[in-house]
Amino acid sequence: MKLWGGRFESGPSEVFERFSGSLDFDRRLMDADIRGSQAFARALERVGILTAEERERIVAAFDQIRKEPVDPNAADEDIHTFVIRKLKERAGAVADKIHTGRSRNEQVSLDTRLWLREESGRVRALLGVVMGALLDLAGRDPDAVIPGYTHMRRAQAVLWPHYLLAYFEMFARDAERFAQARARANVLPLGSGALAGSGFPFDREAMAQDLGFAGVTRNSMDVAADRDFVLDFVYAASMTMIHLSRLAEDWILYSSEEFGWLELADAVTSGSSLMPQKKNPDSLELIRGKSGRVMGCLVSLMTTMKGLPMTYNRDMQEDKVPLFEAADQLAGSLEMARVVIQSVKLNPAAPAAAAEESWVVATDLAEALARAGLPFHQAHQLAGRFVLESVRSGKKPADWTAEEMQRFAPEFTAGFAELLDPKRGMTSREIPGGTGPQSVTAALAAARQRLSEMNV
Ligand code: ARG
Repeated sequence: MKLWGGRFESGPSEVFERFSGSLDFDRRLMDADIRGSQAFARALERVGILTAEERERIVAAFDQIRKEPVDPNAADEDIHTFVIRKLKERAGAVADKIHTGRSRNEQVSLDTRLWLREESGRVRALLGVVMGALLDLAGRDPDAVIPGYTHMRRAQAVLWPHYLLAYFEMFARDAERFAQARARANVLPLGSGALAGSGFPFDREAMAQDLGFAGVTRNSMDVAADRDFVLDFVYAASMTMIHLSRLAEDWILYSSEEFGWLELADAVTSGSSLMPQKKNPDSLELIRGKSGRVMGCLVSLMTTMKGLPMTYNRDMQEDKVPLFEAADQLAGSLEMARVVIQSVKLNPAAPAAAAEESWVVATDLAEALARAGLPFHQAHQLAGRFVLESVRSGKKPADWTAEEMQRFAPEFTAGFAELLDPKRGMTSREIPGGTGPQSVTAALAAARQRLSEMNV
């Protein structure tokens, strides 16, 4: 059944029908389409197009259709056409009135907004679980010390929970982004017509209330042309995947033989068909790999949109493929990350040794010199020369005694030797957001609280 046959002398070619059909992917909007159409039937009653009895018949028929399997035929262009055909089969001639003063251009916008609202909530819940798993992991080794890196070189010692909280913050921002994406989608487009505004005096506020929208869109041409709300979601998904991918990359390294910090559970690793010893981090590699797919979705949809003239163009039908793909890959990756995080084990001795063997304490020495009155530039120079001497003579921090340090430089007075322990220097970083142990304890407690309110 076509919704537009009158002006045509002959039907579409079979090739065009197949090429232009979108039911394969937009069938996922069926529930949203039915919900929207039921609300629209109530709106049609309010403007006198449907009687109460007709509206009742339509709403009841939709309730039935919702439960039936989707069995498209070749002429069903998209989910909107399919649903109307089904309505006609169930409710008869009254179905011909359902599309009064409505366009598929606003309908597809409405359906996608309804779908996105729910999906954003689902993603936020998945994010919340991942964030909780990170906090649980931090709680298992609250005192573990790792070298923090810049340029992939050991930089300064930090607490393991401080490192995990960095990811907590990334996911907290992601959760915010999804809340924002949801808020932007949460505006009713119905009443916009094809592009010029509906020719029937619908109470748009009433329709918005009926469907739980926070408000109504302000410009009908914008509605017909707009996919920003889809891009907002796919952008939020891409950002989240970037964060997941960076976590995956870290942990692939940290669980390698070279690092030996983390032990990934058997349940999330796989072996080699040839090399019996292998235990490969495939779950994390796939998260990293899928991040590329999701970012591809963002680029794909941005590229589709960037040159479109006002207002609706059929190109826009292609938005749902990257949207659903991004949503599915994201949900799968968040679930996988949760299982990896819940089952990983830290071997705290390995990162502690990495911190102790390196010169992550050099900054602590320089800053202590500056605190004692030496201008920082000179303090930096002195600590640098101390490191150079150690590298030359093959000394690790723990190999120095207080007397030797003082012989090297009188500025290294009693007490400086204590700073050769990476844990000691961290206590000078008791600043909000820093890795001082008390700051981290406070940050962990605050994170728990924020998570419980998902006030992130
Ligand atoms: N399936 C279409 C889409 O997803 C619905 C709108 C069709 N409108 C049209 N003028 N052909 O964009």
